[in-house]
Amino acid sequence: MHRKDSITTTFSIRQPKVLHPVDNEDLRLLILENISQEAVRAFQAQGFHVDHSTKAMSEDELVEKIGSYHAIGIRSKTKITERVIKAASKVRCTNIISFMLSPANNHLKLLVIGCFCIGTNQVDLHTAAKVGIPVFNSPFSNSRSVAELVISEIIALSRQYCERAFEMRQGIWNKQSKGCWEVRGKTLGIVGYGHIGSQLSVLAEAFGIRVLFYDVLNIMPLGSARQVESLKALLNESDFVTLHVPELPETTNMISTTELAQMKQGAYLINNARGKVVDIPALIDALRSKHLAGAAIDVYPAEPGANGAPFDDSLNNWSSALRQLPNVILTPHIGGSTEEAQRMIGEEVSLALIRYLNFGSTLGAVNFPEVDLRAITAEQGDHVRVCHVHKNIPGVLRQVNEVLSPYNVEKQYSDSKGDIAYLLADIADVSPSDVNKIRELINKTNANILTRLLA
Ligand SMILES: NC(=O)c1ccc[n+]([C@@H]2O[C@H](COP(=O)([O-])OP(=O)(O)OC[C@H]3O[C@@H](n4cnc5c(N)ncnc54)[C@H](O)[C@@H]3O)[C@@H](O)[C@H]2O)c1
Repeated sequence: MHRKDSITTTFSIRQPKVLHPVDNEDLRLLILENISQEAVRAFQAQGFHVDHSTKAMSEDELVEKIGSYHAIGIRSKTKITERVIKAASKVRCTNIISFMLSPANNHLKLLVIGCFCIGTNQVDLHTAAKVGIPVFNSPFSNSRSVAELVISEIIALSRQYCERAFEMRQGIWNKQSKGCWEVRGKTLGIVGYGHIGSQLSVLAEAFGIRVLFYDVLNIMPLGSARQVESLKALLNESDFVTLHVPELPETTNMISTTELAQMKQGAYLINNARGKVVDIPALIDALRSKHLAGAAIDVYPAEPGANGAPFDDSLNNWSSALRQLPNVILTPHIGGSTEEAQRMIGEEVSLALIRYLNFGSTLGAVNFPEVDLRAITAEQGDHVRVCHVHKNIPGVLRQVNEVLSPYNVEKQYSDSKGDIAYLLADIADVSPSDVNKIRELINKTNANILTRLLA
């Protein structure tokens, strides 16, 4: 009873205060490429003004429009180039009175970019960081979708399911059990036991499949899975080999002639990771010689840029050879393409943008030091949060702490990544008239890139 009371009291004391930028301009967001409506509603619920469109924007359109926004949400088609970022972070002087009142004009520039997808290649991350713009994405929202696709591929390959379905569509009845197997009791070798590999491990065991994995890290196995010491050991023992590693120089052509020869006769290879991880001409040879009984491939070294574009030899010169092989499942990079994954991407990235705009948190940013502070509580009405992006050079903290020295610094945290450093500090007993003064003084420090105050 006593414990319950004390928990209730703690909760009521620790109600977080919702912070807002002290600048008086409302935050404006530009959301492109048909990002989920839940994300749009989440932004509107914060009181942000949201302009949203189903389409991508060209570089010229962005350069023209981006100056009016504090945040942009995109998927993979909109390119945020150096030119766009320069236009986005240029001081907007249209409102000359506001410009004079707030010389740093921090509130009149793009603050954050949200990539509502997995990759961030479409953004010039380095230039964004240099002008103080963190970029967020959602790298793991579709792990479950990929793991489920792999389970379906394991069963489809071992039952020659795609062959039979294709024959039926051609009007051919071909009932047979030769070369068709249950998956129960078979061995699955997972290469890369990260977000997807570990999810898959749990699902596979529920089917009675024995799971081995190989990873460069030592990872605690889930369930009865077992980590093996080398890729060769995994290839030697597995009936199904599935790849879940990132694309790195070390993983390029990680499965080639030697590794395919190390796989068991009649085994299957599944690649839902990245196209360059498998040497496809070598795979074609292993399938033609019947050393492998089948393969499922979702990702390719070169992929068409849009739906409807041909997947032929002009893109990858082995395409037609691969397409002609029996028991090969080819899918157009659909591993993570489910409505659930899209919804989770919308939730995760909108939350990251809201946390940055309202609380200054950069947890999960891809191009920025990751910094967060525990919340200012509702009772701490005169507390202000300083969010200071600066060049990573010596002497900055001394200068900033001199500005903050008349106040009680309740908590402070700073970190750096390359040329960029980021400091969060919560200071107490700040009168409204002090707020502008603090911001101006920090803005004048020589390493300042961007300073925001939240209260
Ligand atoms: N097909 C799709 O639609 C789709 C969707 C999502 C992700 N992916 C791809 O799936 C892959 C895995 O994604 P994830 O989210 O599980 O990544 P992750 O970062 O969570 O896991 C990757 C794992 O691979 C391990 N690894 C790295 N290099 C290795 C090596 N040389 N040998 C063995 N293990 C190594 C890492 O230690 C890590 O445990 C990525 O390439 C990703 O791009 C594809």
